[in-house]
Amino acid sequence: MNKVKAAVFASGTGSNFDAIIGRSNLACEIVVLICDKPGAPVIEKAISSGIQTLVLNPKAFVSKQEYETKILHFLRKMDVEWIFLAGYMRLIGPTLLAAYEDRIINTHPSLLPAFPGKDAISQAIQAGVKVTGVTIHFVDEGMDTGPIIAQRALEVLEDDTEATLKVRIQDVEHELYPEVINRLVRG
Ligand code: GRF
Repeated sequence: MNKVKAAVFASGTGSNFDAIIGRSNLACEIVVLICDKPGAPVIEKAISSGIQTLVLNPKAFVSKQEYETKILHFLRKMDVEWIFLAGYMRLIGPTLLAAYEDRIINTHPSLLPAFPGKDAISQAIQAGVKVTGVTIHFVDEGMDTGPIIAQRALEVLEDDTEATLKVRIQDVEHELYPEVINRLVRG
C-alpha cells in the first residue's frame, strides 16, 4: 500500500530531518525537502538519501505569497498531504496555512508557551529555569503559538551550557517528533 506523502521544511543542520526519515516505521513517506537557505547542510542530507529538494531564496520573490505559491504548486504536484517543519526559520503565511489547514506541524525546543521564537535554549538558560523541554504543535500564523500536540520535559542541570542542553533537547526531539508524526498520520 502506498504511504501518505509528506514534506519536511528546514533551513539548517537537519538533525530532525534525519531523525524523521531515519525512523524505521514512519507512517508516511517524506517525498521532498523544502529549504529556504541555499547551502544549508540539510540539503546534502536529502540528496544523499535520494529525497527530492526544492531550494528557494525567498528574497528572489516579490512577496511571501508568490514564494509560497511556488512551494504550493510543487507540493500539490507531489501529492503532499502533511508538512513537518524542522528548524524552518520562517513564519508560514496564509497561502500555505489555508491549503494545509491542521496539516502543518512544528517542533520547538522549549515547553511552549515559554520561550517562543529563536534561541529558545539560550533563553531557558538565561532565565535560570530548572525544567525545559520540547513541544510539538500545530502551526498557525503566529510565532510558535499554535495548539500544542505533545510535550516532553527535561531537567536543566546546574552546569548546563546552551551546547550541553541542546544535545539533550535534540535527543528528545529526535524521538518525540517522529512518534507524534506517526500518531497524527495514522489518525
Ligand atoms: C530544532 O531544535 C528545532 O526545535 C528548532 O530548530 C532546531 C533545528 O535543528 N525549531 P535541526 O536543523 O533539526 O538539527
